[in-house]
Amino acid sequence: MKGIILAGGKGTRLYPMTKAVSKQLLPIYDKPLIYYPLSILMLASIREILVISTPKDIDDYKTLLGDGSKLGLKIEYAVQKEARGLADAFIIGEKFIGKDNVCLILGDNVFYGQNMTGVLEEAMSHKKGAVIFGYPVKDASSFGVVEFDENGKVLSIEEKPKSPKSNFAVPGLYFYDNKVVEIAKSIKPSSRGEIEITAVNNVYLKNNELYVTTMGRGMTWLDTGTPEGMLQASEFVQTIQDRQGFYISCIEEIAWRRGFITSEQLLELGAELKNTEYGKYLVSLVK
Ligand code: TTP
Repeated sequence: MKGIILAGGKGTRLYPMTKAVSKQLLPIYDKPLIYYPLSILMLASIREILVISTPKDIDDYKTLLGDGSKLGLKIEYAVQKEARGLADAFIIGEKFIGKDNVCLILGDNVFYGQNMTGVLEEAMSHKKGAVIFGYPVKDASSFGVVEFDENGKVLSIEEKPKSPKSNFAVPGLYFYDNKVVEIAKSIKPSSRGEIEITAVNNVYLKNNELYVTTMGRGMTWLDTGTPEGMLQASEFVQTIQDRQGFYISCIEEIAWRRGFITSEQLLELGAELKNTEYGKYLVSLVK
């Protein structure tokens, strides 16, 4: 399974913060936003990762993450010239994906919850078709929305409906078999000019190959596309880290716990950050 992080976009809802800086490089409390989606791919044991961003921003991601070897990963980079839509990731990533299945995560999505690894393993156990998620939100109208019948069967997925047929929004985490590349190529741009991921999901739905897993209230999914969302996410992360002493989406810790890197390597990463609580945390894990 390959992983793609889509970290381009315009970030217009965060202007002026994102006029000069890419959204996914902005901090959520103590780490860049992109660490959060990256940590999810790592929890899924996905080690071959493509980061897609804009021509202007891609070098900043290379500076931040390099070739991934410090984390025991293989990170590649690709450019999206214009924000043509989420499904464009599979067209840009065609060569990278090769013959594999692929997981796409949006660069501005934050997930945290007790059974996250179990959720990911279950999704990856489907070798064919697509697996997406349904997450209850108060107002689903700005997301893709899943409609279920009384038996939990998926009836439809609508993109940003004015009157949502349920309160289950589709978070920015999607698992696909290899057919997704050809399906993405067949999608025509929507009225807002984007190749919509919802259109891809609807092809899988029509072919009876779409699995929707609902996430319960024990799972946290935060969207960080607005100043309020960013602040709420930062406060959430600070509160949990302060209370428990465990870090959320600490990519170095995950790399170490998963056996991607040794204790010596983790200590080196900690030493690079020695003036921070973050660095002290990394060192304390080994001790
Ligand atoms: P959005 O939040 O829908 O768009 P945006 O980031 O451009 O922000 P705004 O609406 O404020 O202008 O994008 C969701 C995520 O997907 C975000 O991480 C950026 C990324 N993205 C791309 O990389 N390429 C794209 O073509 C689109 C549409 C989004």
